[in-house]
Amino acid sequence: MTDDTVDADSDLGFDPAVSDRDVPTAARAARASKAPSSSRGGGLRSKVSRKVSSVLVLIGALAAVGGGYSLLAPSSSADQTALSAADVETGRQLYESSCITCHGSNLQGVQGRGPSLIGVGSAATYFQVSTGRMPAAGQGATNNRKPAKFNEQQTQQIAAYVGSVGGGPQVPTGDLRGNPQNISDGGELFRLNCASCHNFAGKGAPLSAGKVAPSLNNATDLQLYTAMLSGPENMPVFSDNQITPDQKKAIIDYIQNLKASKDPGGAGLDRIGPVSEGLLIWTAGLGVLMVAILWIGRKS
Ligand code: HEC
Ligand code: HEC
Repeated sequence: MTDDTVDADSDLGFDPAVSDRDVPTAARAARASKAPSSSRGGGLRSKVSRKVSSVLVLIGALAAVGGGYSLLAPSSSADQTALSAADVETGRQLYESSCITCHGSNLQGVQGRGPSLIGVGSAATYFQVSTGRMPAAGQGATNNRKPAKFNEQQTQQIAAYVGSVGGGPQVPTGDLRGNPQNISDGGELFRLNCASCHNFAGKGAPLSAGKVAPSLNNATDLQLYTAMLSGPENMPVFSDNQITPDQKKAIIDYIQNLKASKDPGGAGLDRIGPVSEGLLIWTAGLGVLMVAILWIGRKS
């Protein structure tokens, strides 16, 4: 019977759990009314029960994954929000082994080597260390992005230590993406505040005096946020008064979305195809007209 073949087609072992919700109620009702008919044949019934048990297995698996995730995810974000005194202490030790020579034993700075970090804040420190700019390679070296020396946790710990001395803008926690509906606001803010240096597609651009605004391609959400909060080198600081946290999130949404979509728009040089085609048609058309005019002229 037809019901059977339909079932056979869709019997992938896992279709009902996902599709049932999307199935229009009429179809669901139809499916429900199918159930009694299944009592007609034992084979069909066992098939239904097999299906039900595979659904149960799937639900169980989903629950396990979800449970595992919720066990892991909140704990890691909890670590981030509630960096403990022990984390600050570990951060201090890391600081003393990698930063002290240039920034001093009390973050007061070392003349000719590195500026004071008192009140610089955890956000600036997170940005500098996570993008590999710090620890600086040496005196007068330009501090471009390079592979980070510390892992995420250590970076947070160093940032927490620096942030514990004199305050300053803090590393934000939680989701740094705004509402996808804000992407166009983000684009507007990006063009207003960032594009002049980083290029309208975030590809980066040279600034005056040999400085460069780097590409934003490698920047994570948190790096984008902390860059805005701290304004490294020639970049201005965008405090929460100038660009609110929600606006910062909209900008991040926009930039990350721009990177995700392969075609950022604009006039790419490799996109002259349609133009040359149009040109060809235009000249060819003109040529035909010229011939026609000459022909008419000769006739008269
Ligand atoms: C070789 C010397 C050197 C070492 C080592 C070094 N720094 Fe720096 N750091 C500098 C210099 C010079 C600057 C200022 C120039 C610049 O921003 O590029 C700076 C700037 C910074 C800033 C930005 C300050 C601001 O006002 O925004 C932070 C934050 C920072 N360093 C943190 C660290 C941390 C954390 C470490 C260790 C993991 C470290 N630095 C290791 C030399 C150093
Ligand atoms: C006046 C020019 C200027 C403006 C405007 C500007 N930036 Fe920057 N930006 C820079 C420069 C210069 C650097 C490199 C700093 C350094 O290397 O220490 C930088 C670095 C960054 C980085 C680090 C990139 C990486 O991967 O290392 C991010 C992220 C960033 N900017 C985001 C933004 C955002 C978002 C805006 C707009 C809200 C913005 N910038 C506006 C000049 C600018």
